[in-house]
This record gives sequence, structure tokens and C-alpha cells, in this order.
Amino acid sequence: MSLRLECVTCVRKILEEHVFFKACKQNFRPQDLPFANFLILTALRRKAVLDKVFAKLIRKKIPHKNRILNDVLLLGATEILYMKTPDFAVINEYVQIAKQLTDRFAAGMINAVLRQIAAQKDVLKNGVCFPASFKQMLEKDYDTAQLKRMEEMLLFEAPVDLTVTDNPLSWKNQSDIIVFENGTVRLTDTQKNVTHMEGFDEGGWFVQDLAASLPVGLLGDVQNKKVLDLCAAPGGKTAQLLARGAIVKALDVSSERLKTLQDNIERLKLKQNLKIECADAVDFLENNSEMFDVILLDAPCSATGTYRKHPEVLYLKTTEDVAGRLMLQKKLLNAAASHVHPGGILVYCTCSLAKDEGEGQVEAFLKTHSDFVLEPLQVSRLKKYEAKTVAPYLFDKQVLRTLPYDMKECGGMDGFFAAFLKRRM
Ligand SMILES: C[S@@+](CC[C@H](N)C(=O)[O-])C[C@H]1O[C@@H](n2cnc3c(N)ncnc32)[C@H](O)[C@@H]1O
Repeated sequence: MSLRLECVTCVRKILEEHVFFKACKQNFRPQDLPFANFLILTALRRKAVLDKVFAKLIRKKIPHKNRILNDVLLLGATEILYMKTPDFAVINEYVQIAKQLTDRFAAGMINAVLRQIAAQKDVLKNGVCFPASFKQMLEKDYDTAQLKRMEEMLLFEAPVDLTVTDNPLSWKNQSDIIVFENGTVRLTDTQKNVTHMEGFDEGGWFVQDLAASLPVGLLGDVQNKKVLDLCAAPGGKTAQLLARGAIVKALDVSSERLKTLQDNIERLKLKQNLKIECADAVDFLENNSEMFDVILLDAPCSATGTYRKHPEVLYLKTTEDVAGRLMLQKKLLNAAASHVHPGGILVYCTCSLAKDEGEGQVEAFLKTHSDFVLEPLQVSRLKKYEAKTVAPYLFDKQVLRTLPYDMKECGGMDGFFAAFLKRRM
């Protein structure tokens, strides 16, 4: 099977079987992955706007049995608009794929549409929008200007952020790198394969979005504190806690994801103060009386804040998904509360843009738990190094709410929410 045909099949699988690109990656040969990665993720980021263009250019609706032709068009148009392959070669490749998958009439249609896309390249290149269902989901919480700014972030690939456990300042003079004051090192060259980078095997850093790194940073001193990391895998926040000297129990329901956590922590040489437990968090909390100084609940959520890195969420996440998660988040929060020592902190966070999954959960929790209060953020705790500041987006906040266009000039960040719930003494 040709590489482009593999990519077409992969996109169909993502959209039809609701799997993430990550799960299809192993089907590609390692040398083909950078191409497949760029083509597929760019296509998914631009799909909503390109679908509108196709609707204008196609005279007869594509029959359901030939729906894979939509993906042939999508990848053909993406390659013409955003990659360097010459137009004639792209058109030829996707016409052959269409012939192989359906018939020569369909191939004629693909040929005609892709030629028109190539002719209007400059006009079409910068168009961007959310799919209607995704936009509708966000309209409840954000105004038109905010939504427009979020849509515009689809024009850019998300940078790769590393949380560095040794000395982030040693990266400062390299090109394509931004160092932030909290110890995040940002690679603005998104094509880098981080596992091949110098230092990966030595374990001085791990991949973690700047926004996701903030909650543990905002906790301040956790040296020798007893911490329960409730939904821990793949272990980004566990690693941060361990690197700061906490004594951590990391729990997750998925044994497969816990294996990744274990591998990560071993590579980082941080396993000394770690215990791992595979269990359902609610079951564990209801059948255990252990108390903790800090409980970190990085709750399962709709993950809509990660739409730039995982543009699949634009199509796969629905209002029903949010509703489905709300009940579990509430159960987890309630179960965790009684295991926090008086004076201790329950950190609740999600990578969702939906306020029902963030602010709403915290508000409801505080109404039913009079023994907890909201602990304001102490931004000064993030400042570990003399480097680019993240503070302007955090000042004067009771809770952390980052949006994908925050720090746009540096490449943006994931949409993320965190609140610190302190148990009264
Ligand atoms: C947002 S991810 C956690 C990311 C992680 N904290 C990090 O920083 O790398 C949510 C995790 O919750 C786990 N999860 C979902 N339902 C759970 C449950 N009922 N009990 C324990 N873990 C659960 C998932 O397996 C997933 O690994």
C-alpha cells in the first residue's frame, strides 16, 4: 500500500472508528511517520474549512459507499496547500488512489477538484474554522471574539514543550528554543523527534505542555509531602512531583498507561519515592483510609483544550462526551475529599475548555463541602529561573484557566483548568 493511501485509510479510521492518530501510528514505518504525522494532523486541523470549499466545488454529492473519497480530497488539498510536493505530483497520486478505491469517474472528480484547489492556493491557504458541532459546544462558555482567536490557533502547529528536571537555562542559547521561568523549554521546531534528541536517554526532561506543567509548579514546596496522584498516567505530573521531592502514590485505572508511566519515571531516574497502584480511583478511595497532604486529581475529561495537538477532538468530542465525564469527575472529587489531611490541598485539574468540567465542578464541590475553601494561586511560586515569564496570564486569579491563544506570540498553550481546594484545619 502506498504511504498516501495508508494516510487516507488512517483518516477514515479516525473519523469513523473514533480512534486517535496516536493509536494508528504503529501502522506506519518509522521513516514515514514525520510525513504521515504532518499530513494527517494538518488535514484534521483544516478539515472544517476545506469541507466548505469542497461543498462548493463538487457538483454531485459523493455517495455514502464512496465516502472515503472525502478523505482522498482532504489529504490531496492539504498536501497542495500546506506541503511542498509539486501540485501535478500530488494530483496524480490522489487520482490514482481514487481509481484504486472506487472508479475512474470518481478519479475524474478528484482530478477536477484538486486542480481548482491548486489554482486558488493563495486564497484558500489561510482559511480556518471549527467544525459546527465543536463551536456550538464552546459557545456556551466563550464569546465570538474568544472563539475566533481559538479558531485562528488552528493555523499553527503546537510547539513541543519539555519539562526539564535538571537545568533548563543550559538550553537558553540554542536556536528554535524558548526557556520559560518555570523550567519549561519550548521547541519551536515542531518536526523534531524528541526521542532522538540528545539527553532523552539520560532522562533530564520529558514532554509536557507548558499549561499542564503549571498546577504542580503552583503548589510550591512539596518536599517530603505525601501526595496521591489519582489519575496519574502517563505520569507528567507524577514526574514533576517526584522531581520536587514529594513522596508519591500514583494510581490509574489503565495498566497499559501505567506501564508508560513506569517507563517514563525509570528513564527520568525518579522512582525512589514512588508507589504505583492500578485501580479504579473511586474504589480505591472508598476502600482505603489512607490520608494525604496533597491529592492531585487530573480528571478524565473531554480534552478539548488539546485540539491543536490532537485535532481529532474537533470531530470526536461532543456535548454528550462532556456530560458523560461530569458524573465521574464529581464522584472522584467527592471520594478524594475525605482523604485530604486538614490543612492539605486537593488539586482539581482538567485539559478541557468546557467550564462545566472545570469552574462548574469546583463551584458545586465548594457548595457541598464547607470544610474546603478555594486557595488563591501564588504565581510567584512559578518563578524558578530568570527566563521568559508566564505570569501575565495568571495574575489575580483564583483559579488557573489557560486558553490556547494565551502567549500566542510564543506559540500558545493548551487550554487547561486547575483549582486548589484547601481543607480547613
Ligand atoms: C488526563 S489523563 C491524566 C494525565 C496525567 N495526570 C499526566 O499528567 O500525565 C486522565 C487519566 O485518568 C485515568 N482514569 C480514567 N478513569 C479513571 C478512574 N476511574 N480511576 C483511575 N484513573 C482513571 C485514565 O486512564 C488517564 O490515564
